Amino acid sequence: MTAETAAKKVFIKTFGCQMNVYDSERMSEALVADGYSETGQVEDADLVVLNTCHIREKAVEKVYSDLGRIREAKERRLREGKDTMVTVAGCVAQAEGAEISRRAPVVDLVIGPQSYHRLPELLRQSRATGQRIVETAFPDEEKFDHLEPKRQVRSATAFLTIQEGCDKFCTFCVVPYTRGMEYSRAVVDVEKEARALVEGGVRELTLLGQNVNAYHGSDETGGETSLAALIRRLARIDGLERIRYTTSHPRNMSDDLIAAHAEEPKLMPYLHLPVQSGSSRILAAMNRKHTAEEYFRLIEKIRAARPDIALSTDMIVGFPGETDADFEETLDLVRQIGFAQSYSFKYSPRPGTPAANMEDQVPDALKSERLTRLQYLLTNQQDRFNAGTVGQTMPVLFERTGRNAGILVGRSPYLQLVQAEADLNLLGQIRPVAIRAHGPGSLSGVIAA
Ligand code: 5AD
Ligand code: SF4
Repeated sequence: MTAETAAKKVFIKTFGCQMNVYDSERMSEALVADGYSETGQVEDADLVVLNTCHIREKAVEKVYSDLGRIREAKERRLREGKDTMVTVAGCVAQAEGAEISRRAPVVDLVIGPQSYHRLPELLRQSRATGQRIVETAFPDEEKFDHLEPKRQVRSATAFLTIQEGCDKFCTFCVVPYTRGMEYSRAVVDVEKEARALVEGGVRELTLLGQNVNAYHGSDETGGETSLAALIRRLARIDGLERIRYTTSHPRNMSDDLIAAHAEEPKLMPYLHLPVQSGSSRILAAMNRKHTAEEYFRLIEKIRAARPDIALSTDMIVGFPGETDADFEETLDLVRQIGFAQSYSFKYSPRPGTPAANMEDQVPDALKSERLTRLQYLLTNQQDRFNAGTVGQTMPVLFERTGRNAGILVGRSPYLQLVQAEADLNLLGQIRPVAIRAHGPGSLSGVIAA
């Protein structure tokens, strides 16, 4: 620890997806190794990091309104003689670069996701020179090779990024531009990180990637390893009880991955497989590279392999050119498949993506109306799925304490939140829980003998 950074505090706020949650943890670890400690209070922070999301316009606007509040905090601290560095990381940093410091001069450092291993060094540089820095290159060196190797275990469940970027270029999506081309980490690196996490007490790993099932990491022999093969390999780690992965693309849902769902007991029966729309015409305009019929057939195959699998999807309503008939097809698809969980959005035109320039943009009022109808259906399906597990006894991995004393909260194999009265020493352990009731966001039950 250098005198310069001694006892400095960092506040990190994470927007957006689980990949950002993972990245924030890695940035925090790099900063802690550099002498920082974490704080939950902006007012106490010598360094504020916003790890941002660019996927929809609303997400971007949230970042700018936060920066306004941070500017006020920085001014208050300045009056007390304290300095505050402000960093914008993540996909807004990557997409907007120098535009951020123009719009929000409070920002000292703009850093894209491929440069996180350089965060402490760039902060020092900015502090020493008083200059604003914008670092959004896609460097040749591999950030994962340079990030702080020690992982801090925060709970019995952990995220592990194994793949980044996307080459699919769905016409609505910024990811190929903000996260770059598809890249898979090497198997040995993934396994090393997984083992370290499990030694630290992690029992469940969620493997992350924008296109996680396109994973094709190199192995020791220089050969390529599929996601299914990686899962089977990680499943051999003693102490690791559960494996999940997200987010997948229908095109990469290969037979070996489907077979792993039938054969590998540590692979949890839950699959997030976004379909986006039920209209093949709209799917083509979205450049999704699959039709609704292909999605139906794929789901049949997956359910044949693992009949109890809980399915989850992302949906977009009001994509340019979406007619009432297209939207009815979306509702039909949802009715026929039945999702246990879902995320649905109004189409949000993103600068630089092809769909933003398409004709026939759908009026916002119509998007809202469609979203309401779709979400009504999806929420009902989720309720029905949860109600269907009442009366069952399911293994629950307890991950945290509940709001009320004596209650622990964990997850079922189907990723449902489950609350149960449990002794604190059951944190990090799996116990059978008899499910007694279901509320809007979670189930409750009692630990079975
Ligand atoms: N507008 C609305 N939703 C979007 N998504 C991605 N881009 C957009 C956009 N421009 C949604 C997709 C994706 C999820 C992460 O976010 O459904 O699967
Ligand atoms: Fe975006 Fe499509 Fe790639 Fe998913 S598959 S990250 S939606 S471009």
